[in-house]
Amino acid sequence: MSCYRKETNMLYGGDYNPEQWPEEVWQEDMRLMAQAHINIVTLNVFSWAALQPDEDTYQFEKLDAIMELVRANGLKVCLATSTGAHPAWMAKRHPDILRTDQHGRKHKFGGRHNSCPNSPTYRQYAPKLAGMLAQRYQNYENIAAWHISNEFGGECYCENCEKAFRVWLQKKYGTIEEVNRCFYTSFWGHTFYDWDEIVAPDLLSEHFIDGTGRERTMFQGISLDYRRFLSDSMLECFRLEYDAVKQFTPDIPVTTNLMAAYPLLDYQKWARSMDFVSWDNYPAPQDSPARTAFCHDLMRGLDGQKPFVLMEQTPSVTNWQPYNRLKRPGEMRLQSYQAVAHGADAVQFFQIRRSIGACEKYHGAVIDHAGRADTRVFREVSQLGAELEKAGGLFLEGKTPAKAAILFDWDNWWAVEYSAGPSIRMKYLDTVLDYYQAAFSLNVPLDIISVEDPLEPYQIVIAPLLYMVKSGYEEKLKAYVKHGGTFVASYFSGIVDEHDLVDSGGYPGRLRGLLGIWVEENDALPEGEYNAFSYCGRRHPADILCDLIHLDGAEALGLYEEDFYAGMPVLTVNAYGDGKAYYVGTHSDEEFYQTFFDRLCTQAGIRPVHQTPFGVEASVRENENGTFLFLLNHTTDKKTVVLDGSYEDLLDGRIYQCQEETVLEKKGVQLLRKI
Ligand code: GLA
Ligand code: ZN
Repeated sequence: MSCYRKETNMLYGGDYNPEQWPEEVWQEDMRLMAQAHINIVTLNVFSWAALQPDEDTYQFEKLDAIMELVRANGLKVCLATSTGAHPAWMAKRHPDILRTDQHGRKHKFGGRHNSCPNSPTYRQYAPKLAGMLAQRYQNYENIAAWHISNEFGGECYCENCEKAFRVWLQKKYGTIEEVNRCFYTSFWGHTFYDWDEIVAPDLLSEHFIDGTGRERTMFQGISLDYRRFLSDSMLECFRLEYDAVKQFTPDIPVTTNLMAAYPLLDYQKWARSMDFVSWDNYPAPQDSPARTAFCHDLMRGLDGQKPFVLMEQTPSVTNWQPYNRLKRPGEMRLQSYQAVAHGADAVQFFQIRRSIGACEKYHGAVIDHAGRADTRVFREVSQLGAELEKAGGLFLEGKTPAKAAILFDWDNWWAVEYSAGPSIRMKYLDTVLDYYQAAFSLNVPLDIISVEDPLEPYQIVIAPLLYMVKSGYEEKLKAYVKHGGTFVASYFSGIVDEHDLVDSGGYPGRLRGLLGIWVEENDALPEGEYNAFSYCGRRHPADILCDLIHLDGAEALGLYEEDFYAGMPVLTVNAYGDGKAYYVGTHSDEEFYQTFFDRLCTQAGIRPVHQTPFGVEASVRENENGTFLFLLNHTTDKKTVVLDGSYEDLLDGRIYQCQEETVLEKKGVQLLRKI
């Protein structure tokens, strides 16, 4: 079964906007979709204004016709609620629905994803429409899922948000004294005596733009809480629509399309309210295959390593990057299988037919402006459709056999990047990717986990830049290592609690006992400056931040070689119970992370899923249909893989014996089942 309702096939399709086209075109679209093996369409993503022309009128006739059309043509529907952009009349009549930005400017009607999450109007009309859609289409057996709104995100600093923020704080802290303690308002005399003295921390308040153009804050506590609050506010909007559709269709699963490492929403919290995760994958041409793989793993990890839906990707090209490079032949197929290899149970595009006006008219589509099937893109889409029709169902619900995990935490991300000092070069996501890349290059599968997830399933847990250690988390880590786990923390870890208040008594705060070290100072090196250390017979750079470490039970595995702290430890290991806790006190190069991770895996008995030449990814999914090996050639050269066992090729049926070679074309993919 897939994430979608009662589905045993791998669904394949995408966003379809027939409302932009005359009805003659619809029939042609049906014919072309069948030819491309498309079996699902996402409908009604931006139709609010069409469905509700004024306060009291709703008109569903056109949508009825579209719903009938796709049902008659055997298509499944991912039915959107249309609330990702409000109607112009609503903005004019109810200006509370408009957002106010961080400069304090109230916006006019325009754009999309533009509703204030605390607007009474939005909170009334959005769920009302969702409920009406559910009531009207509840008996359509071909509805595979609800798609609430679209790519929730952005910010609002309006008066309604400000008021709701005070209520949120009251609920969280109870007393104003506790707010003062957690926001550390004794600094600069910011003490609050009454709740309504608290204002949203925008650029008119605690925020400012620094010399590098970044928005920073003078009070991390309030800014962190405002992020949490906005994420929660939008989640409440999602929940209102969720409840509205569930009233009529309790059995239809509900999702909304996420954006992987999107900085503004705590997706780990969101996923607990979603029936399944779906996300939109738009890698920039310069993004590494590891980065995209990480995004898939992050999405799979949101809700306990469950499969997800690849809700959108472009079949060929985007319109919104500075240079919208075409996906080369084979690239779309390769990226689609990479998604499947990492847990996708459906593959979908934005969009089926290319629009002729507004900003997305040059965005790729299955059917482009020529309207023909004899295009490169259409052929590639059809080929992939045929393949997924043949083999896709086998992978559904397949699990990733990961024995190592990376901890990822949105609160920590926000805290690291709001931090004033020690270095603007400290980037949470980049640090996570340093470690992820090492595992990816070695074909060792990883799970991305949250602080709520259990650690026991893993032999290695890495917490890059674990700056914020939430109350009690240190106990979880200690118990894990005590029972034999391997834990890795990086530089600038264990510094603050969940309010961004420093844990005094020496860094890394509550992790000191576990790591067996004391970090006395942190040296932030500007771009181009390096220290160095040796590890496994090679010299590696130390840059971004160098922690000056004293041993307090741990053993040094590497020492700084330059500057006044030459001879001090940079890399340490502490034996703790039956396990080990490592501390990597700086940022280094790719080679270091790979050697380091490789050694950890050897010690923990974790083996790569397969050996491959450079640039070829090997990933595995397992379920009751078997163990599936995906070989993905991310390079533009032919590559040869020597197989480590007997396999069956799922597309051409060929049987390979152990030690036999298989050749992957450039950007080529091979789908194998272990025999
Ligand atoms: C997003 C949106 C789509 C579309 C695409 C274009 O993912 O959800 O509506 O705008 O981007 O790349
Ligand atoms: Zn608002």
